[in-house]
This record gives sequence, structure tokens and C-alpha cells, in this order.
Amino acid sequence: MMKSSEIRSTFINYYKKNGHTHVPSSNLIPENDNTLLFANSGMVQFKNSFLGLEKRDYVRAVSSQKCIRAGGKHNDLDNVGFTARHHTFFEMLGNFSFGDYFKKDAIHYAWDVLTNEFQIPKDKLYVTCHISDDEAADIWHRQEGIPKDRIFRFDKDNFWRMGDIGPCGPCTEIFYDHGARAGKESDPFKGIAAGEDRYVEIWNQVFMQYDETSPGVLKPLPKPSVDTGMGFERLVAALQGQFSNYDTELFAPMLDVASKIAKLDYVTDPEVLRSQKDIFERVSAMRVLADHCRAVSFLLADGALPSNEGRGYVLRRIMRRAIRYGRKLSTQSSFLTPMSESLISHMSDFYPELSTRKNHILSTIKDEENRFLQTLDNGTGILQDEIKKLKSQNQKSVSGETLFKMYDTYG
Ligand code: ALA
Repeated sequence: MMKSSEIRSTFINYYKKNGHTHVPSSNLIPENDNTLLFANSGMVQFKNSFLGLEKRDYVRAVSSQKCIRAGGKHNDLDNVGFTARHHTFFEMLGNFSFGDYFKKDAIHYAWDVLTNEFQIPKDKLYVTCHISDDEAADIWHRQEGIPKDRIFRFDKDNFWRMGDIGPCGPCTEIFYDHGARAGKESDPFKGIAAGEDRYVEIWNQVFMQYDETSPGVLKPLPKPSVDTGMGFERLVAALQGQFSNYDTELFAPMLDVASKIAKLDYVTDPEVLRSQKDIFERVSAMRVLADHCRAVSFLLADGALPSNEGRGYVLRRIMRRAIRYGRKLSTQSSFLTPMSESLISHMSDFYPELSTRKNHILSTIKDEENRFLQTLDNGTGILQDEIKKLKSQNQKSVSGETLFKMYDTYG
């Protein structure tokens, strides 16, 4: 089985071999860009190169970018922990062409790296193209030999934009079929259209052609370019034969810590998770913690601090969501700090900022945890007093005002 670190380096080396410059991930907090809260994809650090506003000394790049999707346009927060593959923090593998190659080479590289370097069987893959993009569909079929009945066409799902404004264009996506065990729908078109768990979008290739200067106003870019993004955790799951990203080696060490502290087993069998609600809830809580631990640790390493507005507020919400789910597993223990320690020791080789800022990360988590647990305890006491009072007045419901205060002030 290929280890995740090997998967990352195989991808990067493949594109380096093909003339791409390896550009390290940018900071999660975009520099001089107030249109975004966080880097939400690999192209963010290259935005001005796509717009033709910045010249770099290379026209092909490859990266593994740290991304957060927990606020703004691409926001997955509420799904996180309960699905097999949504995350607040994830890594995006991508190759980029700034006015250099376009659809033909982008498609060829993608197919070659997946089926030859990573040896994914061709019959596990499907592709989608924008309804208007006959050219891309034709390249998949004629150049790469993909049968027409494995190429599907969609409208909105095959047009990608970075945010409300900015570079955008039609895209072609590659889906991996996890097989019948992962979902009932055996018709891939229907499964993909419905977002069924069985068919997972692993890679999105955007043909950057326009600059959306205000919502709905598309101006052609000076040079058509390529922006791709592959969900690293999804690729690792496919290559490690796991249905859920959480069951890969990327999350295992943290989940192990959570399971030991809670003294509860972490269960992976999808059948058990589907049929036993209490086990599903317990496992989901551990997954929330593992996911959020990554987001929190990387955000703190990159300079965000919990606060009551903007980026700091998103960070605080993620931390508090994690702490609340931790409470469901044990009212006595703290999870985030020891899980973060484990993460730091497993991921610092590729992301050394984690070990450099280890003390800061751990002490900030501890402080926030102590403060929030205190707030939660105070809130619980106040709510209990309120209920006692209402009962003595023979009332059966708590007012909306009280509930809002409980949520807003006491977490
Ligand atoms: N920027 C594109 C995405 O995030 C590749 O899907």
C-alpha cells in the first residue's frame, strides 16, 4: 500500500518531470486579498498570474496547497464528520498552466498520472464535462480512449469559480467508483448527478477562460490557462482501498488518540455505521474532532487567532464545534490538545510550520478549551436554573430569547 507521503511526492514528481515548478503551499490566510477568508484551493496563490497581472519565471506549476472551506462561498462545515469526505481543512494537489498548455495536455497528464503512475484501473474512473464543452469531451474520447458512455455532461457542476468574482471557467471532473459496497446506485450517471457516496469526485480540472469582474459579468482572460485541484485525502482513500477519508493513514493516529481517551472503539465498518445510530454518532464525533483538529492546528500555525470576527471567528467556531463534540464522548477529558500533538508529529515533515509553532498551537488550544468549557458549564447551570423556575410556574417551554442567549453567549 502506498503511504500518503509517497502519494503526495509521486504526484509532485510526475509534474516536475513534465516541466512544472514545485511551488510550496501558500499560507492559509491569503495575502492582500480581502475577497476570501482562507485559501480554498490551489489556484488562490496564482490568482494574479491567471489574470495576467503578475508574471512569474515559470508558466507551469505544481503544488500541494493547504485549504480551508469553512466560511464564504465554499463552506462544508455542517457536513463535516458525518460524511465520508467533507473536511474543513484539506490538501489540494494541483497542476497549473499560465497561458501555456490547455485542454489537451491537461487531460493527458491527468489520465496518465492516475492510470499509469498510481495504477488506478480505468474501469473505476468516470469523467464529466460542461454541457457546452464538446472539445474536452472529444479529447477524453479520441485522445485518451475513454468510452463515450463513461463521459457525462453537466451544467453548473462543471463550471468553477473561485468566489463571487475572479478567474473562472468550464471544468472537467474525474470520479472514482468505490464499488457497490459504498452505495446502492449502480447507474454512474444517476449516482454522480445525485452526489451518491459511491462515486467520488477526486479531481477537478478547470479551463480558466474568464475573469468574472462582477457577478455574472464574464470577460475573457488574456490567455486561457489551466487550474486543477485533486482532493488529496480522497485520492489517498482510493489508493489505500478505504471508502472513508477518515479511515486512511492521514487521520488514523488522531482517531487512535480520541478512541483511547474516550475509552470507546473507533468503528469503520460502513454496515455497522449505517445500522447502529449510537455507534455512528460516536464515530462521527471522533471524526469531527480529527477534522477540526487539523483545521485548528494549521490555522494557528499560519497566524490566525480565535476572536469574535472574521477569520478568527471562523477559527473559534471550528474549535468550539470540536470541543462540543468532544463533550459528547467524555465530559471529563480534553481531546483537541493531545490530538493536535499527534497531528504535529505526523505532518511536520511536509509542513514544518507545525513543529515550528508547536508550543503556540498547543497553548492556544488549551486556553480556548478551558475558557469555552467554563462558559459551557456556566450556561448549563443557568439553563437548569431557568428550567427550575419555569417548572415552578407550571410552564412547559423555554422562551426563544433564553435559547438564543444560551446559544450566543454560552456556546
Ligand atoms: N480550483 C478548482 C477547484 O477547487 C480546481 O475545484
